[in-house]
Amino acid sequence: PAAPIDHQVRDLGLAEAGRHQIRLAEHEMPGLMALRRRHAAERPLQGARITGSLHMTVQTAVLIETLVALGAQVRWSSCNIFSTQDEAAAAVVVGPDGTPDDPCGVPVFAWKGETVDEYWRLLGRAFDWSGEAARAGADWIGPNLILDDGADATAFLHLGARAEQVPEDAGRPERPGVEEQALWAEIDRILADRPGWFTGAAAGIIGTSEETTTGVHRLAHLDRIGRLRWPVIDVNDSVTKSKFDNRYGIRHSLPDGLDRGTDVLIGGKVAFVCGYGDVGKGAAEALRGQGARVIVSEIDPICALQAAMDGFQVARLEDVAGEVDILITATGDRDVVTVPVLLALKDHAIVGNIGHFDNEIDMAALEALPGAERVRIKPQVDEWRLPNGRSVLVLSEGRLLNLGNATGHPSFVMSTSFTNQVLAQMELFAAPDRHAVGVHRLPKTLDELVARLHLDALGVRLTELTSAQADYLDVPVEGPYKPEHYRY
Ligand code: NAI
Repeated sequence: PAAPIDHQVRDLGLAEAGRHQIRLAEHEMPGLMALRRRHAAERPLQGARITGSLHMTVQTAVLIETLVALGAQVRWSSCNIFSTQDEAAAAVVVGPDGTPDDPCGVPVFAWKGETVDEYWRLLGRAFDWSGEAARAGADWIGPNLILDDGADATAFLHLGARAEQVPEDAGRPERPGVEEQALWAEIDRILADRPGWFTGAAAGIIGTSEETTTGVHRLAHLDRIGRLRWPVIDVNDSVTKSKFDNRYGIRHSLPDGLDRGTDVLIGGKVAFVCGYGDVGKGAAEALRGQGARVIVSEIDPICALQAAMDGFQVARLEDVAGEVDILITATGDRDVVTVPVLLALKDHAIVGNIGHFDNEIDMAALEALPGAERVRIKPQVDEWRLPNGRSVLVLSEGRLLNLGNATGHPSFVMSTSFTNQVLAQMELFAAPDRHAVGVHRLPKTLDELVARLHLDALGVRLTELTSAQADYLDVPVEGPYKPEHYRY
């Protein structure tokens, strides 16, 4: 009999509920299903061993099963302690044809409500392919591709390999925060148990495909300082990713998170959105759509002017904090909401983050504030009673509220993102030497393909260029239609 599927999830008994949701999601993910139909026979990912670190949701389950349908072996953990949907994780482990007693799906290491120690431990398990090695009768195998969201998985291998190779300059923080302590504890555990593992694993990686803005920033920084070890495909900056998921996805999942977390009426309230990039635009539009009066802050004059032209008041948070009922951060920056701001907000204001990391709201300073008291309302919803007698409601402990308090973006928009992810994995695996070490984007032809794969489901009929028109515009009839610098 085959060895059991390695896993750590909440409860395999949830698999049936998860499978129903996955089945419905497949119907809403035409891009991924089209890739299955187009490529399942030739199995272009046969031989790919993918370690994935991305919110373990129902939509991610459809992504994982698409990678498997294309021939890949996969191990998975979540990229956020609160974002896993336990029924999806269970269904992926059990697989479409397995049972909870006889799972035959994909190894997943994730549950909703991990501690930060568990988080890094579970990522370590997604990187540990020793079970697969034993099954293959090999001494050692590791992953050859990483599918990342926020770059934690890629950074983890880089830090560990550097700790092995240049221990005196490994980047260990002198005064680590809680998160860094947990990260380094896992690295140190592997360094002790499996000497040389990081170097071996890093040497085997063909590339990373990165999902989000913050992850791309981190990887581009590694590249700039000359430390990046392999090519990265920046999926975020496909037009069919950031101009859709970041914007239209948030337009749906931000109000969903606010509703499930608080059920407070948004209409009539003053909402403040920090950052008017792709995510901030979707957030501001959604809040306005619910009848809030929305104020925006920006550091970038172009985005500030855009917000003003879109009809939003643009102000500094500290100048208007006393009017704010709902405060949302969408910057990917740090220390955007500080304790003085929290103290200045209206009583019972709702505070939440939809950027990638929890340092946008200075939670550490709030926790250390003398006289502040946390009252748990329910999981991922805390009332913080402040020393000035007011309260604020903090969602998901300052982490992504749309994934912590709700279930993230809906399937259709995640299909556009994840179709890019699968194409990026295929691109890296098909031609391991095609890309230099650095951060690359998918070609525009593939970006247009992703969009095309989603038109039929919405009943969209494209107008076709005549050859005379194509000549006139100087573009091919079949595309691509825009130059690289076009901004959509
Ligand atoms: P972006 O770069 O398009 O927008 C961020 C904006 O924030 C920029 O315009 C920047 O000028 C502005 N900004 C930076 N520091 C600021 C400050 N101190 N005050 C006010 N504005 C400031 O990035 P994008 O794509 O909108 O992503 C934002 C964050 O959301 C990233 O962390 C990204 O990883 C994350 N994200 C979250 C998603 C979710 O489901 N919650 C989905 C997609 C992205």
